[in-house]
Amino acid sequence: MDNHEPARTSEMIRAVPAALDEYRCPLCGACFATRAELARHYEGEHPGVVAPVVVALMLNGESRQVLIEPHWTLQRALQFRLGLSGTKHMCDRGACGSCTVILGGRPVLACTTLAIECEGMEVQTIEGVAADLRWKPLVDAYCRWDAMQCGYCTPGFLMAAKALLDRNPHPTEEECRAALAGNICICGTYPRHATAILEAAMLMGGEGAIPVSEDGGGADA
Ligand code: FES
Ligand code: FES
Repeated sequence: MDNHEPARTSEMIRAVPAALDEYRCPLCGACFATRAELARHYEGEHPGVVAPVVVALMLNGESRQVLIEPHWTLQRALQFRLGLSGTKHMCDRGACGSCTVILGGRPVLACTTLAIECEGMEVQTIEGVAADLRWKPLVDAYCRWDAMQCGYCTPGFLMAAKALLDRNPHPTEEECRAALAGNICICGTYPRHATAILEAAMLMGGEGAIPVSEDGGGADA
């Protein structure tokens, strides 16, 4: 991640409109000015089908609205309606942690969370972390310690790590491993994660870099 990445991710977040100005029918593409008009369109053209709903979120600190079908997951809403593709879709069944976001202060799996359940809640995604310079030490530590290979799982690991540091700014190595226990990395980067988090915790606590071995810290998770 280069020095321009926080600015780029801030732009992505700002690109999400604060309020809906059109209501598009996902079945036929017709557009309407209000949700009520869209609902009437459903009654006339798609009888028996549940009309999309508007969900309001506090997304990465910004108030946002999204129009979704009621059965959509939070991961799907983020990727396909809000243009935030950092929350990854891998197993789609709550087994891998790649879709981890922070919802109301707790790490949750966005692939098993309905977007409609998140009405009015605070949602933090990897874009919010990448745009926030306070979390740059964590992102940098992941890069410095090569705690990623293909990188597909990395946003989920980072969100789990952020949730840990939010509630425990000085975790032990064991606590780091426990916090990431629900995240799977097919590339096998496990030994590096605790090292990166411990280094970030020290730097963010103003205590300077911790002494760590060149191989990234030893034992497997
Ligand atoms: S994609 Fe959500 S847990 Fe795997
Ligand atoms: S870095 Fe490739 S899946 Fe984890």
